[in-house]
Amino acid sequence: MIKLLSHLSYVAVTTPDVEASVKFYEEQVGLQVVDRIDGAVYLRCWGDYYRYSVVIVPGVEPALETMAWRTSSAEALEEAVRRLEAEGVEGEWIDGHAIGRAYRFVGPQGHPMTLHWDVEHYVSGADQASSYPDRPARRSSHAGAPRQLDHVTIAAADVDEFGKWYERVLGFRIMARTELDEAPVSIFTVLTTNEKSHDLGVVLDGSTRAGRVNHFAFWVDTREELLIAADVLMENGTHIEYGPSIHGIGEQTFLYYREPSTLRIELNTGGYRNYVPDWQPNTWKPSLGSNNFYRNGQMPWSMTESFPAADGPSTTEEGVVPDEIRAALLNPYAVQGRG
Ligand SMILES: [Fe+2]
Repeated sequence: MIKLLSHLSYVAVTTPDVEASVKFYEEQVGLQVVDRIDGAVYLRCWGDYYRYSVVIVPGVEPALETMAWRTSSAEALEEAVRRLEAEGVEGEWIDGHAIGRAYRFVGPQGHPMTLHWDVEHYVSGADQASSYPDRPARRSSHAGAPRQLDHVTIAAADVDEFGKWYERVLGFRIMARTELDEAPVSIFTVLTTNEKSHDLGVVLDGSTRAGRVNHFAFWVDTREELLIAADVLMENGTHIEYGPSIHGIGEQTFLYYREPSTLRIELNTGGYRNYVPDWQPNTWKPSLGSNNFYRNGQMPWSMTESFPAADGPSTTEEGVVPDEIRAALLNPYAVQGRG
């Protein structure tokens, strides 16, 4: 099979309060708004090579609107679609903003995905030009601002079947998997289309809602920047859900927090590069430190929450996450009167 996909190009998520989310991505994360079209807001990190990497879309609850991969060539896009349709997938061709002709479909476990070859490469204005010729724009002056989009992690009812399907049909490599210590139940796996340890993660979903997302992640260049980002977030009232710590799988330093819709986002740095075409994935156990390699802190139960909520819309009639729920998720310490 020719190499079909090259990398994750953008993630689009829905939120009941677009302006609250956009303000957070701008002021807390350090992203920049590039376009506003039909209620959707397109944002980018300073080092993203294309026009945008995050799309905030109006919706009644936090959810994955689509996750997009750029193919390796125009021919690879046609081949990927041919392979998908041979599997019975019924997608549609769309004309996407700044990506042109793109194929959108829903995978076998309900996850919306977009494939495209065409892109608009980002060229900054003179006021944001970098002195590095290979940078699309100068480094953000926002402390800890991520360089680029890194990965997305979805939730699926059958983790291993998800991995096998995307490996077989679209050529993802399976890099690692985790089984419970107590029983051979697969709870996590990571897939990649390139040398990164993963650009697509999969966590077990015990709910009856298909196509949920657990988080998406940005990349910072160094651990120091990740720690600075944690400091900036804390100083500005954002609760850190988990980390900073290091994943055993992928060996990346991580930090998790929530945006105003309650959707989880992550910062990542470090980790290995893997070029091995016939890599044999290890099976980890949580006790080996698959998630927290230091094994010195329990993962908060809140980390198992995926989006949208398992029990239906977490919204009021106005389409907004109730203030007390949002406050508890975003800053439980403040709610409990401890800081
Ligand atoms: Fe992640």
